[in-house]
Amino acid sequence: MRHLLSTKDLDLETALGILDVAEDMADVANREVKKLPTLRGKTVINLFFEDSTRTRTSFEVAAKRLSADLINFSAKGSSVSKGEGLKDTAQTLAAMGADAVVIRHSASGAAQVLASSGWIDAAVLNAGDGTHEHPTQALLDAYTMRKRLHGDRSRGKSLDGLGVTIVGDILHSRVARSNVWLLNTLGAHVTLVAPATLLPAGLDGWPVTVGYDLDAAVDSNPDVVMMLRIQAERMHAAFFPNTREYSRQWGLDDDRLARLRADTMVMHPGPMVRGLEISAAAADSSRSTVLEQVANGVSIRMAVLYLLLASEGGAA
Ligand code: NCD
Repeated sequence: MRHLLSTKDLDLETALGILDVAEDMADVANREVKKLPTLRGKTVINLFFEDSTRTRTSFEVAAKRLSADLINFSAKGSSVSKGEGLKDTAQTLAAMGADAVVIRHSASGAAQVLASSGWIDAAVLNAGDGTHEHPTQALLDAYTMRKRLHGDRSRGKSLDGLGVTIVGDILHSRVARSNVWLLNTLGAHVTLVAPATLLPAGLDGWPVTVGYDLDAAVDSNPDVVMMLRIQAERMHAAFFPNTREYSRQWGLDDDRLARLRADTMVMHPGPMVRGLEISAAAADSSRSTVLEQVANGVSIRMAVLYLLLASEGGAA
């Protein structure tokens, strides 16, 4: 593995390998000194062309816990706002000796372009490209499910037979896409539930079951319910009548929450819009894994940076 661009091309062995290394990395967070010398002398650049809270800071904490030098580059306030394109930005970063570039961009395929361009000789980590993929999010989601299921005995385990229902704006969600591929590889069964207008047109070939009724999905005894934000910034048309109607039909409200099993996981990648796709009670309930997802994100990103930068020529 030289880059991490998508979960579609991760085989089971590689995916489990990343989850297992993340288990070791999680141990570092429990030490008094939360630092390993592993990436000393390496430079990681956070190249964010889109807004981010969790993902950017998570990569920053991960790189620093591994003793790498981390530089935050955000498009706002840089020469990108003066019209500089990806190529010139990448070549500038290459000239500064970056070993890894973590890129978030509004264009689907941006990470792939950077990885195959020859503009820069660095490991490329996709931190979200348009509506396409967000592989580290799916990895931290899978890690979180595995940890809730198996606790300290998670190592080596897949998600065989787990029922995961993903609800909401699937059409614009890179989180949904990366989860669909990874969860399928790990043996879980994925159901997508959304209004027809928020499902992609060509679902043929997606290893999923599709539903249009959240009440039916809630009553079908899912092991995991993953709620997604409405990606208004990617919408150029009206996909549903109004937010109150969306919330009534597609929101995880208190009544639906109460009908879930006590051990059903309620997941959300963040940022949450409380009262819209998820109620405050659902977000804060004992079923919610939202903050575990954030904490586990650091371990996953440490694992990925370690595998790409510390082992000879990248991981096998
Ligand atoms: C997601 C993203 O940016 O794709 N957030 C995240 O990385 N935690 C989902 C979203 O923005 O709704």
